[in-house]
Amino acid sequence: MDKLSNLVLTGFMGTGKSVLGRRVAAMARRPFLDMDAELERREGKSIAQIFAEDGEEAFRDAESALATEWGGTPMGSVIACGGGVVLREQNIQALGANGVLVGLTARPEVILERTSRTSKRPLLETSDREKRIRDLLAARAPLYAKIPLQIDTSDLDPHTLALRLLHLWTQTVPEQNGV
Ligand code: S3P
Repeated sequence: MDKLSNLVLTGFMGTGKSVLGRRVAAMARRPFLDMDAELERREGKSIAQIFAEDGEEAFRDAESALATEWGGTPMGSVIACGGGVVLREQNIQALGANGVLVGLTARPEVILERTSRTSKRPLLETSDREKRIRDLLAARAPLYAKIPLQIDTSDLDPHTLALRLLHLWTQTVPEQNGV
């Protein structure tokens, strides 16, 4: 294993990036970095507030700046991205330069169930959340599919999933990302 490679978790909202990222980092005794949490810390407000007050484009710009920053160094960290990080190719290029990219997936009904517990995701605050999830998934499918390593988190327990991620991290080098 290239010890300093990052493990970069991408995937739609509710696919388990933060929960599993935290777990893998603890198993590997490496730092866990969460892009959304860091953006909230830096901006001093929630993601929902950033969207409402500054607009999505401003959020995407801040997200891209952070992707460039964190992607620039092999820190041996686990990075949980926001679900929209794939919207800009430059983000994936930056994060994949020193990190093993993994795409997490889940069935729409699982995503619906997992995301229904909170209202912190501005893109899902609509009267028909299920439709919004299906529409966004369809629109973004080609972008998520670009990441060669994929894990479906719908049915497996978090411990098994974290072990799989740890295995991928230790057996892969960023040069194999293929993006
Ligand atoms: C977004 C996903 C969110 C957050 C923002 C936008 C998206 O992150 O970055 O609400 O465009 O898919 P999570 O995937 O961690 O919920």
